[in-house]
Amino acid sequence: MEKRIAIAIDGPAAAGKSTVAKAVAKRLGFIYIDTGAMYRAFTWYVMHKGLDPKDEAASCSLIPEVDIDLRDDGTVLICGHDVTRAIREPQVSGNVSYIASYKEIRLALIEMQRILATRGSVVMDGRDIGSYVLPNAQVKIFQIASVETRAERRYKENVEKGIPTSLEDVIADVKKRDYIDSHRDFDPLTQAEDAVPLDTSYMTIEESVDAVLKIVKEKVGVSPIC
Ligand code: CDP
Repeated sequence: MEKRIAIAIDGPAAAGKSTVAKAVAKRLGFIYIDTGAMYRAFTWYVMHKGLDPKDEAASCSLIPEVDIDLRDDGTVLICGHDVTRAIREPQVSGNVSYIASYKEIRLALIEMQRILATRGSVVMDGRDIGSYVLPNAQVKIFQIASVETRAERRYKENVEKGIPTSLEDVIADVKKRDYIDSHRDFDPLTQAEDAVPLDTSYMTIEESVDAVLKIVKEKVGVSPIC
């Protein structure tokens, strides 16, 4: 049996990880797993149930009933609801870091993520993939970019998706999430010791994808299939 390869791409909010990770997975023929979408879906569900995402006990009480399905075409389902678009809305972005700071919720989602990673070779992006979820990943990348670049990229994405936000609000959201994500007690956003830092501030998407593919080639000798 061929050896499974795991590529972990971590980094702060809106660093372009998902875009790059998705493209890298496609070029390599690997499975792409967007762990941020799982935290976002959980957050949407807490709000859908009329609960306050800042209430840890109430949010955690939903763990037994939560079922998340990440489809190959990018569709995200939680308990049968298609939340693909809704999880990108500002209300979800503004609350997701509270949900992601609850240990019980993290442990439940991390268990799902580890199961997904047994399905084949994967590219998984998030905050803690190289440091906690898949510590044995053969390739670990920590993707960064300046706050301004990240906020501008996310603002443009929102405009393209028809999600109403202002650049100022996006800057505030990115800064707030970075702060909460890197200061939570359990499993904070952190660069794994053996991760390769990749600053994409002045790179296009194609250049970022090529840079990751080059690191993959150097580390595990795998080349793109397309
Ligand atoms: O795409 P963006 O960088 O905006 O965020 P995301 O990857 O969709 O993640 C949304 C939020 O989920 C983050 O701000 C974190 O609070 C949380 N998250 C996490 O804690 N751990 C992960 N592995 C992935 C996301």
